[in-house]
Amino acid sequence: MSKTAFSPASWPFSLPVETPVDSIQAEADRLGAASQYGWGHTIDFGPFRKEGLLGEDYLTIAGALDHWAFWPTRLDGMRVADIGCFTGGLSLLMAHRGAEVVYALDEIPEHLAQCEFLASTFDARAVRPMLGTVYKIHEMIQPSSLDLILFAGVLYHLSDMLVGLHALRSLLKPGGSLIIQSNAVEDFEHSYANFGRFFAGTWWQPTGLCIKDMCEHMGYADPEVKFYGTNLCVGRAVRSTDEIPFRRGLNWPFDDLRDRRPRTLDWSILAPAPRQPPGKG
Ligand SMILES: C[S@@+](CC[C@H](N)C(=O)[O-])C[C@H]1O[C@@H](n2cnc3c(N)ncnc32)[C@H](O)[C@@H]1O
Repeated sequence: MSKTAFSPASWPFSLPVETPVDSIQAEADRLGAASQYGWGHTIDFGPFRKEGLLGEDYLTIAGALDHWAFWPTRLDGMRVADIGCFTGGLSLLMAHRGAEVVYALDEIPEHLAQCEFLASTFDARAVRPMLGTVYKIHEMIQPSSLDLILFAGVLYHLSDMLVGLHALRSLLKPGGSLIIQSNAVEDFEHSYANFGRFFAGTWWQPTGLCIKDMCEHMGYADPEVKFYGTNLCVGRAVRSTDEIPFRRGLNWPFDDLRDRRPRTLDWSILAPAPRQPPGKG
């Protein structure tokens, strides 16, 4: 496993002076208690820290993206989205980096309530919380209107990763960037996804190559994936101007299902997954 040293991003917000700290803390506690798995991101409010299920991993993700320059350090004037925002730590970071609009989408109302609360508490007006699923996001945001989409910690939660990637593509301007963070297997020779049996909410655990392949098949160019920890990777791909090559079997309302290029009949493309070492006992 390749280990790369980099610094996590820092949390740039502090509570405005004269904020009623006790009532902010009480509301954060109430929102955390109302959610099945509690509060999401650990947030430094200044006078107090609210610990969350996901800790400060969101700052590590931002640091990894900065380290490999997978996203720009400034987002001035950009229209971006944070898909699966949970508490909104990353949505607010993008707002702080100058994004004009940050659509913050989550399918769980209690998660989105945390993001709404965080945005209003820190006066991050660019953040626009939206309740919904990634599969329907093209009905909520104007097609081809976004410069960048952050898709952190969600790919492996999807039953249908291809449909999710395709839905996001429809929102990006040509040349716009999809930024991924995912649980994954560090394997760039075999393209497969382990079935996760819903372990910690995981449907699929793709390999690094599988993530790149899925992006290419869903109409993204130049995908890159880098591992920054055990089974943790970040990736970047750019919306291509080409049509996606294959549409049959894809759960999407296409007008025309004909293949755009000949499909392969070469069995060697299905390089088998490596055999796992036998367990003890
Ligand atoms: C592991 S958290 C990631 C939070 C944040 N993006 C991060 O990286 O720290 C996954 C979030 O994605 C949301 N989510 C999962 N599947 C989704 C879907 N199909 N549409 C919208 N949100 C989804 C979950 O509700 C949860 O809040």
